[in-house]
Parts: sequence; C-alpha cells; structure tokens
Amino acid sequence: MMRIMVLNGPNLNRLGKREPEIYGQETLEQIMSDLQSTAKKNGCEIDYRQSNHEGDLIDWIHESVDEYNGLILNPGAFTHYSYAIRDAIASVEIPAVEVHLSNIYARESFRHTSVIAEVAIGQVSGFGSAGYGLALKGLLQYLEGEEN
Ligand code: DQA
Repeated sequence: MMRIMVLNGPNLNRLGKREPEIYGQETLEQIMSDLQSTAKKNGCEIDYRQSNHEGDLIDWIHESVDEYNGLILNPGAFTHYSYAIRDAIASVEIPAVEVHLSNIYARESFRHTSVIAEVAIGQVSGFGSAGYGLALKGLLQYLEGEEN
C-alpha cells in the first residue's frame, strides 16, 4: 500500500481563524481528516504533520525517505524563500507535490515566486482545501506510472 506524508508549514495551524476570506473556514484538522477519507477511498495511507519551524519540516522531509512513497507539502510562506526546504526535497528521492489553498499567482507579487516548484513534480494552487485531495490523486497517478 502507498504511504504518503503530508506536511503543512507556518501559520496553517491557524486555518479556520486565519483570514477566512482567503483560506476558508475549515480548520487544518478538518481538512486533514477529509484527506484521510480520500486516502482510504484511493487505497493509500497518509500521515500528516504541521510545524511553524523550518527545521522541523526539513527533518520530516529527510525522515520520509524510507517510510513514505511520496510527499504532499504546503510550505506556507517558506514557499517563497526557503532554499533549505527546496534543497531538502531535492535531497530525497521521493516525489513531492506542492499545495496552496489560495491562488498564489493572483495575490501579492512576493507570492508569485515558488522556490519549491522546481523540485516538485507538480503544484496545486487556488482550489482551497480541495487542493489536498487533488494533489493526492495526482501523486498516486504519478506513483502508479512509476511502478509500470
Ligand atoms: C499558502 C500561500 C502562502 O503564500 C502563504 O504564506 C501561506 C499559505 C496557501 O496555502 O495558500 O501561509 O501556502
């Protein structure tokens, strides 16, 4: 069975309260619990974690290598400038999909750059919480393609 690690970066623990007009009303816990159901329906397992600290995210990316087939990552604002998270993804052989609730290209110009995109197999941006399920489906399709 495929195992996927889902990592959420800074301020995503505030979902539900944080700028709901941009990020929606759901809490991270609700979004992750829906994603668990989607994972079950698609015959895979997910684990998820959130941290406001860059080093935690980097450690979890490294630790995923032998445990998981792929990564789904919403790096929050680290998306736009963390070369360390970019390099951590590049250092592991497992595929990663980048997710954003908001459409980062329709917002402030500093959000238009993702330093992560180059090391991700794909990006989902602007579909709100549904983006996590879309990322999971895309990642599973990619992994199944790799098996053949
Ligand atoms: C975000 C977009 C980022 O620009 C922002 O810093 C976040 C959330 C999103 O999910 O839309 O924290 O990654």
